[in-house]
Order: sequence, then C-alpha cells, then structure tokens
Amino acid sequence: MRALGFLLLSLGCWAQKIPRLRFTLPDSPALSFEDGEKPAAISHDPGSEQLYVGGRGAVHVLTFTEAEVNQTRVVLPAEEKALKDCKSQPGAQQAECENFIRVIQRLNSSSIIVCGTNAGSPRCWFLTNDMKLQQNKLGQLISINGENLSPAWPSQPAATIAVEGNLYSALSQQKSTIQRSYGPKKLLRTEDKWLANTEFISAALLPQKEKTLDEIFFFYNEVNKMAGLDEEPVKAQIGRVCKVDEGGKTLLVDSWSTFLKARLVCGHPADPQRFHRLRDAFVLSEGQQGGGMLYGIFSSAWGTTAICTYSMDRVNQIFRTSKLKGYSSVMPAHRPGTCVPYSSPNAPSKATLSIIKEYPEIEQVIYPEGQRPLYMLQTNDTYTQVVADRVLDASNASHTVLYLGTDKGKIHKVLQGEGQTVIIAEMSPFRREAPISGLILDASTGYLYASTEFEVTRLPLADCGQYRETCWKCVLARDPYCGWDLENKRCSAVFQEANATTSSFLQSLHPEAGDVCEGVADQVAQEALKKVSVDPTSYIYLPCPLRSHHAIYTWVKDGAKQYPCDMDGHSCTLRFGENAPMDQGVFKCTATEEGYKEEITVYKLTLNSATVPQLPLMMLFLTIAILLC
Ligand SMILES: *[C@@H]1O[C@H](CO)[C@@H](O)[C@H](O)[C@H]1NC(C)=O
Ligand SMILES: *[C@@H]1O[C@H](CO)[C@@H](O)[C@H](O)[C@H]1NC(C)=O
Ligand SMILES: *[C@@H]1O[C@H](CO)[C@@H](O)[C@H](O)[C@H]1NC(C)=O
Ligand SMILES: *[C@@H]1O[C@H](CO)[C@@H](O)[C@H](O)[C@H]1NC(C)=O
Ligand SMILES: *[C@@H]1O[C@H](CO)[C@@H](O)[C@H](O)[C@H]1NC(C)=O
Repeated sequence: MRALGFLLLSLGCWAQKIPRLRFTLPDSPALSFEDGEKPAAISHDPGSEQLYVGGRGAVHVLTFTEAEVNQTRVVLPAEEKALKDCKSQPGAQQAECENFIRVIQRLNSSSIIVCGTNAGSPRCWFLTNDMKLQQNKLGQLISINGENLSPAWPSQPAATIAVEGNLYSALSQQKSTIQRSYGPKKLLRTEDKWLANTEFISAALLPQKEKTLDEIFFFYNEVNKMAGLDEEPVKAQIGRVCKVDEGGKTLLVDSWSTFLKARLVCGHPADPQRFHRLRDAFVLSEGQQGGGMLYGIFSSAWGTTAICTYSMDRVNQIFRTSKLKGYSSVMPAHRPGTCVPYSSPNAPSKATLSIIKEYPEIEQVIYPEGQRPLYMLQTNDTYTQVVADRVLDASNASHTVLYLGTDKGKIHKVLQGEGQTVIIAEMSPFRREAPISGLILDASTGYLYASTEFEVTRLPLADCGQYRETCWKCVLARDPYCGWDLENKRCSAVFQEANATTSSFLQSLHPEAGDVCEGVADQVAQEALKKVSVDPTSYIYLPCPLRSHHAIYTWVKDGAKQYPCDMDGHSCTLRFGENAPMDQGVFKCTATEEGYKEEITVYKLTLNSATVPQLPLMMLFLTIAILLC
C-alpha cells in the first residue's frame, strides 16, 4: 500500500519538487572558522583564486587550489579608544565591542577598501594586492572614518557596492540612507523622508549600452513595526540611482537628483497570500547589452520561501513610464529620474528636482514574470541566498542555472527555463548545519564560492563526474554544463567558449527530447548478484539505494512478481511480512525514469530447509551482512 501511495505521489508534481540527486561533497576544499568569528562579508575578484572573508578583527584571504585552501589572516582589531568607549557605554553588548569586518570592496586594480564596525565607531582601511594594509610614511595604518560607509554593529543590515572606484553604501541605522560614501565622485545621500525603517538586502550595477545610462539598484524591505491588522508590516522595495548623478544644481545639492523607488511583490495581483519579505536578490545582467534578470528570494509571514523573477527591462520600463505616487500634475518633458550628466543642458531643472524631492515613489507595483513565483521551487526548503549563471549547452543554446542556498547549509542547482524548472541536484558541501550566508559565482573560472557562519568552500559549476558511467545517467541529469562525450565515452564539461565545437556531446535538456543515447554502447559492469541464504523463520530485508529521486523504483521477483517497498529517502527497502511473505528466488530492484531503466541491485535469496543455529544470532548476522552489501 505504501509503495502504491508513493507511486501516486511520484506521478503527481511532488516528485519534481524535490532535488533529483543528492550529493555530499566531502572532498571539496573547505575552511572552518572559530565559533564567534561570524564572517559577514565575502568578496572575490572574477578570474582569481582568492576569496576575501571579513571576520571578527581580521580579513581572511583564502587562496583555493583543487584540493585545499591556504589562508592568510590580515589582523584588524578594534582601535583602543573605540573599544574603551564601547565597553563603558551603559548597556553595551560586550560581545559587539569588536571590529566586525562588514565591507570588502575592490576600488581599483591595486586597492581594496575594508571597513569594520570598530566597536561602534566604524573605520575603513585599504588593502593592497600583496595582502598588506596601506601605511603612511611613518609606518602607521592609513584609515578613514567609516560612519557613512559601514554599519556600526554586526547585526545592522547593510548593502554596499563599488563602481569605478566609488563606494555606494546602503545602511539601515537610526536613519536609513543610501549614499555614495567614498570615491572621486561627489558624495551624495538620500533625503531622510525617502526611506522609512529599512532592512537593506543587496545592491547591483545594471550596465547599459550607453555608459551614462548605467544605474545602481538597491533592494530592501520597508519595515512598518506599527502596522495595523489590515496593513502589511513588510514591503519589498527597489531603489535606484543613476551612476552619473552628481546632485542637483539648485535643489537637492547634496542629495541624489535621480533617486526613484518602487514596490516589489512576489505573487499574483489578486492573491493576498503573497511572499512579502525580501531575503536575497541577485541581478544576472547581460553584460553591456542592458537588460538582465532579477532573482529574488521572498518569505511569507509563515517563514516559507519562494523565488520570483523579474525582467530588468520591464522594471526599467515601469520606472520610465509609471505615474509617481501622489503626483497628479503634468510630467515635465525631461522625466524625473532620467540619467543625464550634470553638465548636460538636459540636467534636471528645479521643477523636476522638486518633484523627485516630494514624490520619489513609482505608483505601479512590480509583479514577477508570470505574475507568480517559480512553482517548482515552493519546496519545504527555506532558501537564504541566490545567484545565477547563464550557461551555453552542447548546441550553443543559452540556459539559466540558479544556485540556491538553504537554511540547512545545502545548495540547490536548478535548471530554470521556459516551461520547466528542475532541481538538478542538492549539494551538501558543509560539515556543520547552518544557513548559507554567502554565494559568489565566478563564471570566468567556473566556480561557486559558498559560506556559512562556520565554513567556506568552493565548488566547480561543471561537476560532471557526479553523472559518470553511462550516457543516460549523464543525459538524464539535465545539467547544461555536462554532456556525454562520444569520443572519450564519459560525462564531461561542455565547453563554455562560444567558438568551441561542441557537436560531439550528447545532451537532452528538454523533457520531450527523445532517447539521445540510443545506440551508444554503455560499458558498465552488471551489478554483481548478491547471494543470500536465510532461515525461513528469520527476518530479512533487502535495501535498494536511491540515486535519482525523480525515478520510480520497483522490486520484482524472478522477472514477474512485483513486491512493494518502504521508501525512507535513502532506500526503497523490500521488507518481507504479512503482505509480502518471504520466498526464494531472484529479487531485482530497478529504477525507471523517463523511459530509461536501470538495474540497481539483485539478490538471489535461498531459504534453508534445515534449521541451523539459534534464531537471534542468525538475525543479527544477516542484518549485518545485508547492511554491508
Ligand atoms: C600557503 O601560503 C604560504 C604563504 O604564501 C606559502 O608559503 C605556502 O607554501 C602555501 N601553502 C600551500 C599548501 O600552498
Ligand atoms: C586606487 O584607490 C586608492 C584608494 O582610493 C587610491 O589611493 C589609489 O590612488 C587608486 N589607484 C589607482 C591606480 O587608481
Ligand atoms: C513538506 O512538509 C510536510 C509537512 O512536514 C510534508 O507532509 C511534505 O511531504 C513535505 N513535502 C516535501 C516536498 O518534502
Ligand atoms: C554561440 O552562441 C553565441 C551567442 O549566444 C554566438 O555569439 C556564437 O557565435 C555561437 N557559436 C557557435 C559556434 O555557433
Ligand atoms: C576560442 O577563441 C578564443 C579567443 O578568441 C581562443 O583563445 C580559444 O582557443 C578558442 N577556443 C577554441 C576551442 O577554438
């Protein structure tokens, strides 16, 4: 009965919502932190082998190789005066009187800015490429006041991004601000009334074909702690400014002259049960082409999470065309918020600036593509982090792969395309269970960096060895990074260079694609027949380890009689009992998935006629024997 139940569930949509494969990755190069280190910032330069991790009183510079991680610590304790002030404050959280590194951003080819909480009075230092802190001629560390650059406490949300040597900081403090906080360009900030009580999540640059149109986006939640019963306590928002902004000429002189914000919703306009709170946001941009996709993780009031996607072209379109909330007069010819250089004759007039000053919010609410979350990803897993990659498959078609971190330290690799969302695999790279707190994807080297509060690791994007052995195992994985290499007869990484010849790889990324492996000889050793003889009165069970969680598993005796099995997430176990009396014969467990059949395990069971040793001993012996199989 239970097997039938599982079969029915499998045929429904449920089976597709769970990851197809589950891997533990014990050999991935990883580094563990001491408890309390609480790494809060990670940073990586594309193309390099290094990861910068901001911890407690130090920046850890990690250098990865295939097999291991080499660590250099750059020590940055809190300054003595700040420490003293912090500790003498009434009601001070002594544990917070340290220098937690919250900002690590590369400013230019030779300098990285590093900011820490510095026991409540933030400071910033400069790190050179040889992992040294910049000093003045007297050998003293060069540092600057970090009040506008970094949060003052480890628990304060913040988002920072460096663009062309300028640092942009969004800080959720007593007064929430978005600022250009450091760099050669004029420093600017938001007006106090533009941002309510905010929780900043992330920031992204959206490059455009025309450089003067480049925009910087900030993703955050507006938190209304006083919300009444019929009000929403949390609203996800997008704020954006132009990179060329240098403030207004007559009004908003030290403030953004192009700031606009809009409400972001993950759900259907007519469905009140939406996911309100933004947990993470990632923009997969299309290089200099403009456009791109925004991927957001949202959580509901009950803590469940969902993924919503938004086309950045559409987001921009809404920013360019929607009415402004509360503003009903005629829009000026040069729309408020348009990116124009300060010196241009089209620079915003005083009238335009006064509209921005009073009405920076877009009236139109931004709904996701398809007006709903990605259905397949409403699993029981709680997602915490998202990054995405654009992958060229064997036929040079482009696919999107999402990497989603869970609150249990797992990473889901998801093929996301028109009409299908498949969780290709769940990877467990960490030893300790903790929420994934950071993900950085480097498409140029093909690695994903992942961190929790205890550990950090690096994983290859094209881990094709996981689908080794046979053509169909490789193809059924539906991993666009991997194909069956006809020449070398193994599952290998498909070249990501656009000029590569990829015709010798077999792949089948669409569910309706036929059997591409037909006629490909698989050199695979048949599962050895396991012989078991057992006393008829003893108890025995036969395990069948699961590989693909999207396959259907069946036990058949002598090629004819079907037996039910117990599913426990790891095995489809045949347990003899009242409904399935023990019998002798050849028991075979097979997995069937999309027309492919795989023999997982075979037992030849013989029943002893003579009653030999004492039963309890026999039971124990057999149980061990079978567990070892
Ligand atoms: C780690 O880095 C140090 C200093 O750069 C170097 O001397 C050492 O050989 C490195 N170790 C490994 C295993 O790469
Ligand atoms: C890099 O940035 C640092 C800090 O702003 C600055 O001192 C240095 O001159 C810059 N170097 C280059 C090559 O631009
Ligand atoms: C989700 O959790 C519920 C309740 O714990 C459980 O009944 C259900 O099978 C789970 N679904 C999946 C897809 O794991
Ligand atoms: C692969 O596709 C890219 C664009 O997606 C194109 O620029 C390139 O020429 C294509 N390469 C081949 C070998 O067809
Ligand atoms: C593709 O082009 C790049 C640069 O143009 C070159 O370095 C690379 O070797 C080429 N790859 C192949 C497989 O031809």
